[in-house]
Amino acid sequence: MADGQLIGNISSSTTTENLESLLYSAAFCIENSFRLEAEIEDLSAEIVNVYQELSLIYSLSNKLGGDLDISSICKQVVEEISSVLDVKTILLLLHDVNSGMLSVQACTGLEWEKVSSFAVNLATEPFAQLFSGMKASVITDQRITSSLPVSLQAALCVPLVTDSRTIGFLIARDKTSGEEFLSPEIKLLDALSGEIAGAIKKAQLYERINRLFISTVEALASAIDAKDPYTYGHSRRVAQITTTICKEIGMSSDETHMINLAALLHDIGKIGTPEYILRKPGRLNPAEAKKIQEHPVQGAQILLPFDELKDFVCWIKHHHERYDGEGYPDKIIAEDIPLPSRIIAIADSFDAMTSDRPYRKAMNPSLALDIMSDHAGTQYDPGIFEVFKSTFTQKNDLS
Ligand SMILES: [Fe+2]
Repeated sequence: MADGQLIGNISSSTTTENLESLLYSAAFCIENSFRLEAEIEDLSAEIVNVYQELSLIYSLSNKLGGDLDISSICKQVVEEISSVLDVKTILLLLHDVNSGMLSVQACTGLEWEKVSSFAVNLATEPFAQLFSGMKASVITDQRITSSLPVSLQAALCVPLVTDSRTIGFLIARDKTSGEEFLSPEIKLLDALSGEIAGAIKKAQLYERINRLFISTVEALASAIDAKDPYTYGHSRRVAQITTTICKEIGMSSDETHMINLAALLHDIGKIGTPEYILRKPGRLNPAEAKKIQEHPVQGAQILLPFDELKDFVCWIKHHHERYDGEGYPDKIIAEDIPLPSRIIAIADSFDAMTSDRPYRKAMNPSLALDIMSDHAGTQYDPGIFEVFKSTFTQKNDLS
């Protein structure tokens, strides 16, 4: 007997008193063993939970460690968590400091079209009160659900905090079992939130630096073009044509992006060319032509101190080389000329021929292409020129 219930029986020839005592001892032992078994089961379940937590933290940390793309980080976070947590819906929302809006960046279990436009101003009620200083918890405030396209009633909401600032929220909704969220799940998401917030903050910082870098390059390109009103917009147009060629020959988006920036800066060396030469309406004399031909080397020298632009140095230095080795400054030949320089050379010539110059009007694009065709294999890389020509002919435009 245990707790008044019969849990087993034994037979013995001992006295009734001894037998009763023996039975109580046996019942106590059996009850203890049941309790121990239950404790072992609980402990095993907890070990499995801890293992899952650690695996998820390790896996996320590994995946997010080198990722600097915010949208890719957000997608990975919701996918990884939904694979471990037994829930139908995960949402990741980020707060934009400039606009004050909180918007969905990634989700699982919901149609993206339905939630992608979701955005609330964190400065307005009831969101201000709900989200301000929020800890990882289950949402019980019913006022909020009517304001949203997706009900967050009973959803588990975890703030993403880094450097004491809340940059967003992770929301889990609809447990597959239909049960409520329990403290181990709250604890797990809370433990992950720091890792996720750190990765997002790093990517946001990288994005800001990258935007600053691009703005600086664009400002420099405008400064170059401003020196010569006849070639205004030349750097941008060359960069545009260069980008089209890069895409057509199958370059990656990262390579295309870098070559686009280099194309924007291809004539940066002209900052050192006297304006009377750049603006001279007639033919240049030999001394002036020599001076202007210094701009690729001067451009390379300007960029040399910048570690991040070390690839640009070589690309810009050789954008006036010719495929047959008769260009400048180093007279290098064919594939020895860096591929980005060969692409920029074609874009540069085409834009120069199809733009107004002080000494002539802009050439018709078809005529420019015909003239350039005669120089494919001598002045221009014939393979790249063919791609350029067929792309232009198909689209009749390269923008
Ligand atoms: Fe140039």
